[in-house]
Amino acid sequence: MTSPSNTPVVADRAALRARRLDEALAHLDQSPGKRLRPLLLSAAAVAVGGESVRAGTLAAAEALELIHTYSLVHDDLPAMDDDALRRGHPTLHVAFDEATAILVGDGLQARAFELIATDNTLPPEQRVALVACLAKASGFEGMVGGQSLDMQSTGKTLTLDALKALHAMKTGALITAALEMGGIIGGASTAQREVLCKVGAHIGLAFQIIDDVIDVRSDSATLGKTSGKDAAAGKSTYVSLMGLDAAEREATALHDDALKLIADWGDSADELRALISRLVHRDR
Ligand code: IPE
Ligand code: IPE
Ligand code: MG
Ligand code: MG
Ligand code: MG
Repeated sequence: MTSPSNTPVVADRAALRARRLDEALAHLDQSPGKRLRPLLLSAAAVAVGGESVRAGTLAAAEALELIHTYSLVHDDLPAMDDDALRRGHPTLHVAFDEATAILVGDGLQARAFELIATDNTLPPEQRVALVACLAKASGFEGMVGGQSLDMQSTGKTLTLDALKALHAMKTGALITAALEMGGIIGGASTAQREVLCKVGAHIGLAFQIIDDVIDVRSDSATLGKTSGKDAAAGKSTYVSLMGLDAAEREATALHDDALKLIADWGDSADELRALISRLVHRDR
């Protein structure tokens, strides 16, 4: 199953009274992003379930993408990375204003949990498990915590271990959640869920290392966001600590280890394997 790339960020906006938020969501719809997290979620569900995925996968996948999109809208704010370009378009606070960008992020986060909680195709206990998983991965112990560490460490040189912990939280947590949520929906065994978590830790770190690499290697037109931002902002990255080639080798090693973890999972994991490779071999 693949996730459609042209679905609106928030599908049902009929009840939205605030016109400015509606316009801001339409701005986000112009540029959907790679949608790797929903694709990973679906691929993980297929990998552990073997068969085609039930319709309920999509709501959880969309919810995960909403949390990711909110994290980007807030990441770009002047108080954080102060970026003007995202997915090839002006960032939300540039196209609109900071208050709108903050509120859209807040609203996307709330909508994500609403989508899962109200997905009648899933049994209630699965909905609770999905909400708990996504909340933990996006909150203080996950993405939000990692973003705070990122902000606090800007302008300082981190140790590699500290940077690894930061990356695991700010980026790895949501990527691991994609696999865990797929596992919940696909009915993964305890052993399969443990493997999915380990795969998530590997590819989550690899994903952020490559984000740091392409920040240096790619240009803004390819990235759809301003290149060279990390060095300009004084961020510690795998590239600043170990150089471009060693950073890339590290990501490749993590990719290889992730594939080894699911080497005996059979054909049903082929889509997941392909996505793991796509996560690492990319220029945007
Ligand atoms: C960018 O994520 C932010 C990071 C966590 C590194 P993506 O590269 O998945 O961004 P989009 O969704 O495709 O724009
Ligand atoms: C952001 O990391 C990770 C998030 C949780 C949003 P970056 O700040 O490196 O992401 P980009 O490069 O702006 O997409
Ligand atoms: Mg950032
Ligand atoms: Mg940023
Ligand atoms: Mg980056």
